[in-house]
This record gives sequence, C-alpha cells and structure tokens, in this order.
Amino acid sequence: MGAQKTPHDSRSVMSEVTLPNDTNPYGTMFGGRLMSLMDKCAAISAMRHTELVCVTVAIDSVEFASPIYLGELVVIEAWVNRVFNSSLEVEVMVEAENIFKKKRRLCNHAFFTFVAVNDQGEPTAVEPVYPQTDLEKQRYEKAALRRELRLYMKGRISLEEAVHLQDDLIAEISKTDLQ
Ligand SMILES: CC(C)(COP(=O)(O)OP(=O)(O)OC[C@H]1O[C@@H](n2cnc3c(N)ncnc32)[C@H](O)[C@@H]1OP(=O)(O)O)[C@@H](O)C(=O)NCCC(=O)NCCS
Repeated sequence: MGAQKTPHDSRSVMSEVTLPNDTNPYGTMFGGRLMSLMDKCAAISAMRHTELVCVTVAIDSVEFASPIYLGELVVIEAWVNRVFNSSLEVEVMVEAENIFKKKRRLCNHAFFTFVAVNDQGEPTAVEPVYPQTDLEKQRYEKAALRRELRLYMKGRISLEEAVHLQDDLIAEISKTDLQ
C-alpha cells in the first residue's frame, strides 16, 4: 500500500479561454463543451488518486447556473470525495472568470462517478481516500448517500439496501418531528 492520499492530493484545476468555436449564436458556451472539460478535469482527479485508468460511469446534479460568455476564462476544479470499491465520487466546481474585471462567479457544479479499470477494462479495487478537514469529512459522509441514491435511481440497489440513505432520512424525519 502506498501513502494514504487525501482529497487535496487529487485536486485538479484546469483553465480554458472561451473561444468562438465553443459558443452558441448568443455568444455563450455550449453545455456539451463545458461537460467535456468538466469530465476531463474530473478524470484527471480520479486518475491522480487511483493511479489507474478511470472511466466515467455516471454524472449527476449538473446545473448550468450561469452562462459563460465569449472571452471569459472557464476555471474548473475537481477532487475526490470518496472511494467505494472500484468506483469513486469526484466533485466538480466551475467558475467563469473575467480577467479584466477581476471577477469570478460560480457557473456549474456536479458529481462524477468513475470506475477504475484494469487492462481488460474490468473494475478494479481502489485505495481509500482519507479526508482531513471538516469540509472533506462532510463531503465524504454525504458521498455515501449520493451513491445510494444514484444506484437506487438506476435500479442497481433496492431501498432496503440503501442503509445510509435510510439512516439519513430517518434522522431528518425525527428532526422534523421534534420541531
Ligand atoms: C464502468 C464499467 C466498467 C462498469 O462495469 P459494470 O459491469 O457495470 O461493473 P459493476 O456492476 O461491477 O460496477 C462497478 C462499479 O461501478 C458502480 N456503478 C455502476 N453503475 C453505476 C451508476 N450508474 N452510478 C454509480 N455507480 C455505478 C458500481 O456500484 C460498482 O462500484 P463499486 O465497485 O465501488 O461498488 C462499464 O459499465 C463500462 O465500461 N461503462 C462504459 C464507461 C465509458 O465508456 N465511459 C465513458 C467514456 S470514459
């Protein structure tokens, strides 16, 4: 086993200028172009952690919150929240940066799930990630809920198997009852 890696060790940042070829007739970036950049940045993060080839298996919670205009910089940041077995959750944040106005705004946020594969393309177990900060620990805990939710939505697990999700929902309901 190598050194224990933290989410920070997997952090990847990519910047790209928005050119005419990336935009629609309104002068804002195509969603598909942005998704491609996000996928690339997330994959780098996944492979930085696993040191294995990783393929995208799921993308969720994508939200195009604000358009990115021609000439703006797209700044994408990705890090590993949690490793399960062969799969891992990578969180991705996107900001648009106007260099001349020295301003940045949040434009997109999503969760990518990757699977580490061997030379035959078969899923391969990955070393865990060790969260250090409170925020990293929160993200680590919530990643287990999101995993169950996405596997349930795809019919890969039953509601009975979604134990983290059940605990969390029960905790939420109990809180409401007390109020
Ligand atoms: C990813 C792939 C290898 C998984 O193969 P598979 O036969 O479904 O493997 P498994 O059922 O054993 O699942 C492997 C892991 O993926 C996870 N997984 C599968 N589908 C998932 C989904 N929709 N959402 C989240 N996780 C998923 C499983 O939970 C499992 O995780 P774990 O090992 O951490 O418990 C296969 O589906 C594949 O090659 N897909 C195409 C990938 C691709 O081309 N991506 C785009 C280009 S990079």
